[in-house]
Amino acid sequence: MQRLRIKAALETSTSLHDASIRIAGWVRSKRISKNIGFITVNDGSTQEELQLVVDQPSLLEIADTLQTGSSIEATGFLQASMGKGQAWEFRVEALTLLGDAPADQYPLQKKGHTLEFLRDIGHLRARTNTFGAVFRVRNTLSHSIHSFFQEQGFIWAHTPILTSSDCEGAGEMFAVTTLNLEKVPKTPAGKTDYQQDFFGKPAHLTVSGQLEGEFLACALGNIYTFGPTFRAENSNTTRHLSEFWMVEPEMAFAGLPENMELAENFIQRLISDVLRLNPKEMEFFEKFYEVNLQDLAKIAESPFERMSYTEAVSRLQKSGHTFQFAPEWGADIQTEHERYLTEEIVGRPVIVYDYPKDIKSFYMKLNADGKTVAGMDVLVPKIGEIIGGSEREYRYDALVARMQQMGVPTHDLEWYLDLRRFGTVPHCGFGLGLERMVMYVTGMKNIRDVIPCPRAPGSILF
Ligand code: 4AD
Ligand code: MG
Repeated sequence: MQRLRIKAALETSTSLHDASIRIAGWVRSKRISKNIGFITVNDGSTQEELQLVVDQPSLLEIADTLQTGSSIEATGFLQASMGKGQAWEFRVEALTLLGDAPADQYPLQKKGHTLEFLRDIGHLRARTNTFGAVFRVRNTLSHSIHSFFQEQGFIWAHTPILTSSDCEGAGEMFAVTTLNLEKVPKTPAGKTDYQQDFFGKPAHLTVSGQLEGEFLACALGNIYTFGPTFRAENSNTTRHLSEFWMVEPEMAFAGLPENMELAENFIQRLISDVLRLNPKEMEFFEKFYEVNLQDLAKIAESPFERMSYTEAVSRLQKSGHTFQFAPEWGADIQTEHERYLTEEIVGRPVIVYDYPKDIKSFYMKLNADGKTVAGMDVLVPKIGEIIGGSEREYRYDALVARMQQMGVPTHDLEWYLDLRRFGTVPHCGFGLGLERMVMYVTGMKNIRDVIPCPRAPGSILF
């Protein structure tokens, strides 16, 4: 008999409820009295638990041995529930204990655990209500990302994880080497001899698929990459990971206005998909974490604010609010500014654009004022920056000049310059951090709690 997942079992139509079915899962709780026993079971397919009803003496004996966390398998049938809170319960005809979970050893007991405690048992935390919900929402978002782009004809392009270029030019890359670190070969000049390394030159884990995404967009039109990216920045914050997932669309024959529109439609679509496809999870987050479903639904429907960097700085300065770092034209917008702007000044997501060129990457298109670049960040309440993107500098001379000014060596990026030498076109794109999006919709406050295996400075479990 094929196993029916609990989500499917709870959603089956009445006509199926006489048939015998098989279910399996982990025991959440049990209540056993002399003649009847109730066991709640979850199998990860849904936020909900299935209530098992046991009344035969031989089954009650087995039920009695079950503990929180025990894995079981049962056959029986669904019947209308007399209890409150659920439509169906499962009348057990056969019950097998698959794996015990001794109460004095199993760390996940019924009582609520702190997220910090759960982080230390990352291999077990997915069995809790919170993390089950987080990972199901994460799955919906990932699927929805693909649907959104596929429906519009964007081509999913697989950009590499091992790379020889530094996209953000920020030097925050993990080196990849097979050199013997105890005895690093040197050149006559005393530098590391990368010719003897695996690839014959320095290699790194990618910080972004953008540069490769650009050459694919400049051939296929609209593309997106979606995969893990790595940053060796030493920032131990609740919004940064050393390994995170980023989705990066890139569009040819398009500029900043189209980029902003795509970003807005994209985030709105992700929100409405999660609200539609994970109602139970979202109810749970609203109840136990800081998220308001009505607010989210509104955000999915109303246009985002658009504001130039210059105006944003001026509005922050005029706000009269005391910041740790005073907002100043030419300086980076700090998280505290991002949050104040979106939470207090605007009260909804805001797209900030046209940043000073000195605080942005070399590839962003220089605006006619000669001072700003056509970059954009999407900021959302509670999180701050969720998307970063730009129109790319597609004019050969302007790009070479920018690279020289910023000390980005052109010899490593001749291929990138080729895109501007041959058949260059205006193009643009952005990157959305998947984890920031999961945080945004779930209300989880620490980015380490929205990815199964978080990596951060000084911390790598598994
Ligand atoms: O703003 P970033 O650095 O932009 C880029 O990497 C561009 N190459 C994207 C592009 O135009 N194709 O990163 C984009 C997004 C951020 O807005 C943020 O959501 C997320 O990636 N992000 C991080 N998420 C978690 N941990 C980190 N350390 C992150 N760094 C960036
Ligand atoms: Mg950014």
